[in-house]
Amino acid sequence: MVPNSDSTDNHEPTISPNPANASAPVIVRNIEIDDLAPVFHLGESLFTSDLYPYLYRTWEEWEVIGFYNTDPEYCLVAEIGGQLAGFILGTVISKASWNYGYIAWLGVSHDFQRRGVAGKLFDKLVERMIEEGVRFMLLDTDPANAAAVKFFTSKGFGNTRQHVYLSLNLSKHEYYGRIISYERDKAERANPWRSRRRHT
Ligand SMILES: CC(C)(COP(=O)(O)OP(=O)(O)OC[C@H]1O[C@@H](n2cnc3c(N)ncnc32)[C@H](O)[C@@H]1OP(=O)(O)O)[C@@H](O)C(=O)NCCC(=O)NCCS
Repeated sequence: MVPNSDSTDNHEPTISPNPANASAPVIVRNIEIDDLAPVFHLGESLFTSDLYPYLYRTWEEWEVIGFYNTDPEYCLVAEIGGQLAGFILGTVISKASWNYGYIAWLGVSHDFQRRGVAGKLFDKLVERMIEEGVRFMLLDTDPANAAAVKFFTSKGFGNTRQHVYLSLNLSKHEYYGRIISYERDKAERANPWRSRRRHT
């Protein structure tokens, strides 16, 4: 049986946006429906296009809603003094006789970083996954994301393989760009009034 929440109060806080929260414990609990929008917005504030272009492009409402829908037991949030401090979204991939735990998203508010929040979220998630038979953890992150690489290394991850992130702007591509122009012209021919209005 998985406990519903876990609290710890033995970590010395270093940063706090609110002095009242300086000694508040980190509470790790299951994500709830009312957390979905705050978690999404916290992710938006973290996964910015300048720092993490790949995470920025792939982070959207359906990531949070989807994991909440399919893997609620592997979606956790951390609170400090009643404020959302961080979240972790994961899943279990079962293949042959192996169960792999996969961390899809992890984020901690700038206000609460370096206070052990990610560590507590991660530990709680792994405990749950172990109960479900997981014996191997997987994740991927941008090699340029030094904080994440250091965090996961501190949790024991290794065996690093460099991941190559590629992107393609279809509008600028010689062949696909022509298809896009063709589709745009077709839409304008089908509804000229609407297209003209949109372009003004
Ligand atoms: C990566 C991240 C989740 C770490 O969260 P956190 O709550 O600050 O991490 P913790 O306080 O639990 O850190 C534990 C250890 O990880 C390492 N670490 C964490 N952040 C670090 C940083 N910015 N620089 C160097 N080491 C770091 C340290 O070893 C740290 O231990 P220490 O504080 O005793 O030195 C947070 O920086 C974050 O949300 N980043 C933006 C989103 C992101 O990149 N998510 C991961 C990819 S989905």
